[in-house]
Amino acid sequence: MTPYEIVDLVGEARERAVPILVESFEGIYRWHAKRTLRRIDAVRGAEENGRLAGVSMLERLVPEVGYVYYVAVGVADRRRGVGGLLLDDAIARFRAAGAVIVYAAVEEDNAASLRLFGSRGFREVERKELGYQEGGLGAWGLRSRMMIVHGEVLYGRRYPPLGPGP
Ligand SMILES: CC(C)(COP(=O)(O)OP(=O)(O)OC[C@H]1O[C@@H](n2cnc3c(N)ncnc32)[C@H](O)[C@@H]1OP(=O)(O)O)[C@@H](O)C(=O)NCCC(=O)NCCS
Repeated sequence: MTPYEIVDLVGEARERAVPILVESFEGIYRWHAKRTLRRIDAVRGAEENGRLAGVSMLERLVPEVGYVYYVAVGVADRRRGVGGLLLDDAIARFRAAGAVIVYAAVEEDNAASLRLFGSRGFREVERKELGYQEGGLGAWGLRSRMMIVHGEVLYGRRYPPLGPGP
């Protein structure tokens, strides 16, 4: 069983994630990650005995679309499944809230990130593909809200809607 526990980070508690962001990002990404940390809807943390090991930053762009802004794991905790746990948690939360598409912008030369999203069935979204409302993965009208910058590609995955249950 994994020793990591996923928790919500709210208000001042989000500042605990800053050292992880400093370790994980450089330059404009670091600046943007810190700014996003303080503004975004939801920040989830992976803790081991109360120590923060990784974070995700999540936003629903529209009711049916979730966006993973950032996933970052402290250097000492990498390759132990923490990024996967955070991504599984993000997907589960989005789906429980009614999302059928989850997107993430991935740097095209970031092997760890490509592998992480690929391991959960995400694939690159083509610019020309059908929009998310038509059954494709095309992010028409939403790309500008995802801050996709040069060197990044949009990844996404569609999920069947969760039924109301028995
Ligand atoms: C990307 C990142 C979050 C992955 O976190 P992690 O806790 O090490 O990931 P996991 O241990 O859960 O591994 C998830 C998958 O990625 C693979 N992976 C992780 N690090 C890797 C690396 N350096 N090279 C190749 N594959 C890697 C794992 O093998 C695993 O694949 P699998 O499920 O097919 O076996 C982490 O490397 C990180 O914080 N990087 C800096 C910040 C960043 O680039 N974030 C992503 C963009 S927002």
